Amino acid sequence: MRTYQLIAPAKINLYLEIIGDRPDGYHELVMILQSIILSDRIEIRSNGTQAINLHCNHPLVPLDQTNIAYHAAQLMVDQFPERFANYGGVDITIDKQIPVAAGLAGGSTDGAAVLLGLNLLWELGLTIPQLQQLGEKLGSDVPFCVRGGTAIATGRGEKLDPIQDLDNLWVVLAKYNNLAVSTPWAYQTYKQQFGHTYINDIAGIQSRTSQLHSGSFVQAISDKDGKKIGELLQNDLEKVVLPEYPQVAQLKEVLKQAGGLGTMMSGSGPTVFTLCQSQTEAETIKKTARQKIEDPSLEFWVTQLSSSGISIISEQ
Ligand code: C5P
Repeated sequence: MRTYQLIAPAKINLYLEIIGDRPDGYHELVMILQSIILSDRIEIRSNGTQAINLHCNHPLVPLDQTNIAYHAAQLMVDQFPERFANYGGVDITIDKQIPVAAGLAGGSTDGAAVLLGLNLLWELGLTIPQLQQLGEKLGSDVPFCVRGGTAIATGRGEKLDPIQDLDNLWVVLAKYNNLAVSTPWAYQTYKQQFGHTYINDIAGIQSRTSQLHSGSFVQAISDKDGKKIGELLQNDLEKVVLPEYPQVAQLKEVLKQAGGLGTMMSGSGPTVFTLCQSQTEAETIKKTARQKIEDPSLEFWVTQLSSSGISIISEQ
């Protein structure tokens, strides 16, 4: 029975701009996505049966089709039924370290790891672009998670242009463990409030994309200029999430006051992060924020930006 163990990193959004809406119900986005070291560990083991079984150490993680990792395995079975018949089913075990429902692509990265793991286990020989294409069927963040690093993402998030890696910075993440924001709610509310500003012509969308490519944010990343990157952080979804969740708005304010290069919410939240030059600075900010908000449900993580996507740590 063969077994693969993989490390599946979380992501943060350094930049998230909503440009317009799309006929498929999604939004047209321009983003800069960034992998971080904080990762789940995924084990994929042949089980000699015709079943897919999912296990996870986190009580809130579903173990059925609603879990992207399970959905990813089901997708591979549907796409490659003869491999499934020959190689048999798998037990997938997720060691969850990434906070759940946090805006950090924790579920998406597990799904991406299952695609990569089954590609190896079933000796399919699929390329990264082919795996990313499969990932699109699972969720907008999955194609990015397949490769990781630093990338401009456009379309609904699935069109990726890798850019200069950014792994010299540290980050403090903070999240209330009893708070979850619905991503569909966040986008829907944004549309209700800001739909009148949407650009929906192809030329307009292309122009925003090329502005980002040649603009100051990508330049700051090329220069590894942490100060400038911190100043340029943007997330349009803050405009709807922060007014609805004053706790998150307060957390952002406290983190911002505590120092660092810049503070922003990731994805549709509710995780807020501060970029830092060093681990020492990140630990100091964490300590200061913890003293300001004495709430046991508030959790912190100190980690580093990462140039790696999913990696295989063992093969047996
Ligand atoms: O693709 P994913 O399943 O992660 O998206 C979750 C939800 O977020 C979608 O159902 C949609 O409501 C919203 N979304 C969006 N536009 C995007 C990505 C997500 O409206 N580009």
